[in-house]
Amino acid sequence: MYETEKGRGTMADDDLETLPGVGPATADKLIDAGYESYQSIAVASPGELSNTADIGSSTAADIINAARDAADVGGFETGATVLERRETIGKLSWQIDEVDDLLGGGIETQSITEVYGEFGAGKSQVTHQMAVNVQLPPEHGGLRGSCIFIDTEDTFRPERIDDMVRGLDDEILEATLEDRGMEGSIDDDETMEALVGDFLDRIHVAKAFNSNHQILLAEKAKELAGEHEESEWPVRMVCVDSLTAHFRAEYVGRGELAERQQKLNKHLHDLMRIGDLFNTSILVTNQVAPTPIRTSAIQPSPSVATSWVTPRRSVSTSASRKATNASSGWSTRPTSPTVRASCA
Ligand SMILES: Nc1ncnc2c1ncn2[C@@H]1O[C@H](COP(=O)(O)OP(=O)(O)OP(=O)(O)O)[C@@H](O)[C@H]1O
Ligand SMILES: [Mg+2]
Repeated sequence: MYETEKGRGTMADDDLETLPGVGPATADKLIDAGYESYQSIAVASPGELSNTADIGSSTAADIINAARDAADVGGFETGATVLERRETIGKLSWQIDEVDDLLGGGIETQSITEVYGEFGAGKSQVTHQMAVNVQLPPEHGGLRGSCIFIDTEDTFRPERIDDMVRGLDDEILEATLEDRGMEGSIDDDETMEALVGDFLDRIHVAKAFNSNHQILLAEKAKELAGEHEESEWPVRMVCVDSLTAHFRAEYVGRGELAERQQKLNKHLHDLMRIGDLFNTSILVTNQVAPTPIRTSAIQPSPSVATSWVTPRRSVSTSASRKATNASSGWSTRPTSPTVRASCA
């Protein structure tokens, strides 16, 4: 479960009771449902607020409008302001020049990046590697942030993080020790063990047991990101490995496709909101299956492609295989994961 650090600079300082129609009881309901700040209420939909906080939909709409004024969101803004916000976008390096070049510098914050590929292509390895890379100092391509990892297939392995930390270049390891104020040398076993432990401490992992639980965990991830926002290690990556596995297993057949896509859309929307609110990168994986097409050729395709709002960049690269190559013993696969990034 999540380790929470309440009181470390959350956005929960907003007094919800100043909103019209919100008394102590409603404020408690809103907070329990994860709406702790004006901003989180301002960007909610009336239906969502009324369902999760158990209030009438017209009251919900009034509360949202008042929260929009209070949080000063929802209006038009100038291109210059948009530019200013975009300048805060961080880029998380893969530590592979070819992939970073293709992605224009790396995985962006405030965006969702999808890594898709067939069974065993190395998607989970990529997520482990990025959970390490995100913690590196910016001069070494990281975002000096912590990571939230939603594990839906029970494939998160701390041992693999250990491999990947130890596999970093010596220069990066030395800079990382210094960045964390840790004494000792990278040739010293105890120091390296402590360093690996420090990396693991900054990865908050939760196992999702089904799609509903996965959706709930995305909401919890938002809370956790809020709690860490002003801390020394803000959340800079939320990883969902795999985004689609539970949905695919639970919604079977064409009859359930619409409902599945609807739920997935909402889930993606929740994730995107974390990215927007907290300047976080969102990394999701998706296993793709060969699909027969008219020519009877077999082609893999991303199965949530229809749920993306505006695909901004889509890159396929064999170089991505190297992303997981931080430790020895890595065996290459016939196919490598593919990366697609989008922002809502
Ligand atoms: N500890 C390890 N050391 C070296 N290579 C490993 C290790 N663990 C996994 N691998 C490599 O990664 C491959 C599997 O990659 P991974 O589990 O990331 O695939 P995936 O794309 O997530 O698959 P799936 O779609 O089933 O989730 C293995 O076949 C192996 O080659
Ligand atoms: Mg996997």
